[in-house]
Amino acid sequence: MNRFAMSLAALLLVPTFANQVNAAPSTRYDATTQTCRVLNDGPLEWESRPWGEGGKIFKSACKSCHSRNNDKGASFLWVESKNSAGWNRIFETRSPICAKNGSWDSITLEQQLKLNDYLYRWAANSQDRNDSC
Ligand code: HEC
Repeated sequence: MNRFAMSLAALLLVPTFANQVNAAPSTRYDATTQTCRVLNDGPLEWESRPWGEGGKIFKSACKSCHSRNNDKGASFLWVESKNSAGWNRIFETRSPICAKNGSWDSITLEQQLKLNDYLYRWAANSQDRNDSC
């Protein structure tokens, strides 16, 4: 192969490789609303990122208690504390004490869906797998 052909081959390979590295869930099935949420395209692609609404709500609404060494009696939580299915389960069942005692009440359902999208998308091991619907 001559030089040109080699660089062409390299150029073609780079995007393929990058796509694999960035493999992430492209959809999320939401049991509460029984809808399939598209995370790799459209508005939710942005909102489910750390700097989108989902990531911001996690910081403002959840990390206000679940930060490291907090004095609220809450365990330290970050996006990789659970896997995708684990986060989905938490929002579906609202099992945590804080969901039951009203600490989530200031967050609208629409915001909770985006928060769930963010946590699902970047959860532990989420980059190794895809679609839930
Ligand atoms: C007012 C403080 C407060 C806020 C706000 C809060 N939590 Fe909690 N949360 C707690 C406390 C206290 C517990 C019980 C102790 C523990 O297990 O961390 C808890 C428990 C949990 C648990 C179970 C613990 C575990 O490790 O599985 C999860 C999950 C959780 N919270 C998620 C959230 C999410 C998501 C949000 C944001 C929507 C949130 N919490 C907002 C105080 C809070």
